[in-house]
Amino acid sequence: MTEGFATQEIARGLKDVVLDTTETSFIDGAAGKLLYNGYNIHDLAEQSTFEEVTFLLWHKRLPTRSELDRFDVRLKASRTLPPPIIAVIRLVPQAHPMDALRTAVSALAAFDPDASDVSEEARLRKATRITAQVPTIMAAHDRIRQGKDPVAPIDTLSHTANFLYMLHGKEPDEDAARAIDIDLILHAEHGSNASAFAARVTASTESDLHSAIVSAIGTLKGPRHGGAAEAVMRMVEEIGEVDRVDEYIQHMLAEGRRIMGMGHRVYKVEDPRARHMRERARLLGEKLGQPKWYQILQRIVEVTTPLRARGISLNVDFYAGAVYYLLGIPEDLFICMFAMGRVPGWCAQVFEHWRDNVLIRPLLHYTGPMDLEYVPLDQRE
Ligand SMILES: CC(C)(COP(=O)(O)OP(=O)(O)OC[C@H]1O[C@@H](n2cnc3c(N)ncnc32)[C@H](O)[C@@H]1OP(=O)(O)O)[C@@H](O)C(=O)NCCC(=O)NCCS
Repeated sequence: MTEGFATQEIARGLKDVVLDTTETSFIDGAAGKLLYNGYNIHDLAEQSTFEEVTFLLWHKRLPTRSELDRFDVRLKASRTLPPPIIAVIRLVPQAHPMDALRTAVSALAAFDPDASDVSEEARLRKATRITAQVPTIMAAHDRIRQGKDPVAPIDTLSHTANFLYMLHGKEPDEDAARAIDIDLILHAEHGSNASAFAARVTASTESDLHSAIVSAIGTLKGPRHGGAAEAVMRMVEEIGEVDRVDEYIQHMLAEGRRIMGMGHRVYKVEDPRARHMRERARLLGEKLGQPKWYQILQRIVEVTTPLRARGISLNVDFYAGAVYYLLGIPEDLFICMFAMGRVPGWCAQVFEHWRDNVLIRPLLHYTGPMDLEYVPLDQRE
């Protein structure tokens, strides 16, 4: 075995390479089907909560009422950040929220009481804390950068409602909290996506959970992964009016540019998650007297019909941006919303990987020069 000249075909981007087995999510890209631990995403989006889905992903079964209550108590008890983490956030007020989130999650490792405990119980406690603390970090950073004080979490609200409360300083109404809860459920897990893969690579070296989540956050940040919801909303705002959609999109397509919120490595039909965000974007737009954004999105769908024949359809982020926008979530926080939803899935995959760990270390095919003569520094021209 050499790391040099590959004898087998190179799978650039690891496209179509099967890394391992999983019980966490099942994706049928041709049928547009997504299951978490066997449960259809439509049932979970319609009937479950983010807390319940998090339990499902970590324990591979739905909780009983009392198990869910106990888990909820633990999540709520973990929301408050250690004061030094607030100090760290205060040091980076102008940072992009994803950079602030990555920095703060990394710093959290230094204050985690289970930092050096690698037992399964300690890993679950750490995952619970990270899941509970991510929204607190996001809200605290957003307030600090506006020159306001962070709003302390309260334990009378759900995970999602408490996040909106900490962000805006007032309790959200039921529709707002439910829309975001559904959004988080839809984002919670999704096979071997780039950020979950990054988390697994880090975990495979027997590094710690915080490091794996930091790797995942850094990987999610790129526009080809987590940045799509923000890009879609920027595009929609730039278009501005429904009667400008056709010209704008035709121009983009003619230039060979990608339409954000469309296309997926696995789905070749509509992403099953898009349906739920479409409904929320429509309902919220009507309720808040701002139907225009939904109408623009629907016209974009019509104008891009030729892309469907090439397997480029709507993904989960196409409507998510409009939902966030309507709920007053700042655009540069959109990608953090994805991270907030995905933390349980990253943790679930890391747990799964650790149950039968194997170091992830592929090979590269070398195409550079060979056996060059080394010329000492002072003799080089
Ligand atoms: C998600 C994504 C990276 C997956 O792409 P992929 O499986 O790696 O496919 P490729 O990037 O190789 O694209 C294949 C072809 O489809 C085209 N394509 C892919 N997504 C497209 C889009 N959103 N709009 C227009 N064309 C697109 C590419 O230009 C390429 O065309 P070509 O073969 O003529 O060069 C890609 O669809 C994309 O960039 N989408 C927009 C960003 C987005 O919404 N990301 C969120 C994902 S949940």
